[in-house]
Amino acid sequence: MGPNNNLTGVGIIGTGSYVPEKIMTNEDLEKLVDTSDEWITKRTGIKERRILDKDKATSHMVIEAGKKAMEDAKISPEDVDAIIVTTVTPDMAFPSTACIAQEKLGCVNASAFDLEAACSGFIYGLSVAYGYISSNMYNNVLVVSADALSRITDWTDRGTCVLFGDGAGAAIISRVPENKGILSLDIGADGSGAGYLELPAGGSKNPATMETVNNKMHYLKMEGNEVFKFAVRKMNEASRKVIKEAGLELEDIDFLVPHQANIRIINSSRKKLKLDKDKVYVNLDKYGNMSSASIPVALDEAIKSNKIKKGDNVILVGFGGGLTWGSCLIRL
Ligand code: UT7
Repeated sequence: MGPNNNLTGVGIIGTGSYVPEKIMTNEDLEKLVDTSDEWITKRTGIKERRILDKDKATSHMVIEAGKKAMEDAKISPEDVDAIIVTTVTPDMAFPSTACIAQEKLGCVNASAFDLEAACSGFIYGLSVAYGYISSNMYNNVLVVSADALSRITDWTDRGTCVLFGDGAGAAIISRVPENKGILSLDIGADGSGAGYLELPAGGSKNPATMETVNNKMHYLKMEGNEVFKFAVRKMNEASRKVIKEAGLELEDIDFLVPHQANIRIINSSRKKLKLDKDKVYVNLDKYGNMSSASIPVALDEAIKSNKIKKGDNVILVGFGGGLTWGSCLIRL
């Protein structure tokens, strides 16, 4: 974010996460498409993923993760001033999933809206929350990143169906002591790569018709190799940018919480940031790529398992459809 190197005083005061109970393993996928546990593990690092029950929607996961974040932050629902849900799989086009969740969460004083920046959604959400808090417009903002990618997955396409899973991660953004919280933040987009990752139908360009359904246009399409190259480059650039903007050096970084898309992308980022394996949180073996939920679920688990300690300088970094990217250097 901007040229200001002193973004301290706004940070995360509580986190929460939720993943559905139902597990789909690589062996289960072997029965659906021509793939193998060996290929998926070697090429991606994923072993299993969670699948949201058919009778539930993304808002269910938003509510579960949101409740936990409020509890963790020790604030009541009435204290939440805004709910930002980042998702590419809203319950429906409108009303927003944030509005649907607002009622069940009891956040009666909160404004509520959805934000779409694909897998970079959590960092985009943080940037908006940062703006609200630092301008004194709001005191507490709930950012929930939630996706049910199983709903838009073509289960006959082995190039994509092995990669994704469902889940939600949440954080409460508020005032924190000076010299803590968000030290720097960078978000960006390159629309020239919009076609590399898309859900072609169901919007105003291709409204639902028999033809769009028959042509499988309501499923996620991806040019995996192009996204891979972009990810490796951007994860490194965006991480280095926030380190520089915070006036820090590589050796000041204590921990990395990357977007969980592919272990090869994560390892490349880790090596470029010269971090040991135990300084990076990886859970994609359990959950696959949960789009914007990946970073906040990983952050919540890393904090709750004491892998991240108070005062650590942590990089959150992700990339995704748009194409978009986002990175944040935060002192917890
Ligand atoms: O959140 C952002 C979302 N997207 C991403 O992060 C995706 C980034 N991209 C990737 O992670 C990788 O590009 C993939 C995991 C999607 C693919 O890995 P890859 O090493 O780039 O493989 P590839 O696409 O180059 O395919 C290699 C081979 C191909 O066979 P041929 O043409 O060499 O005979 C594929 O058909 O592997 C084949 N293949 C599979 N084989 C078994 C592709 N998917 C599978 C599969 N099982 N599931």
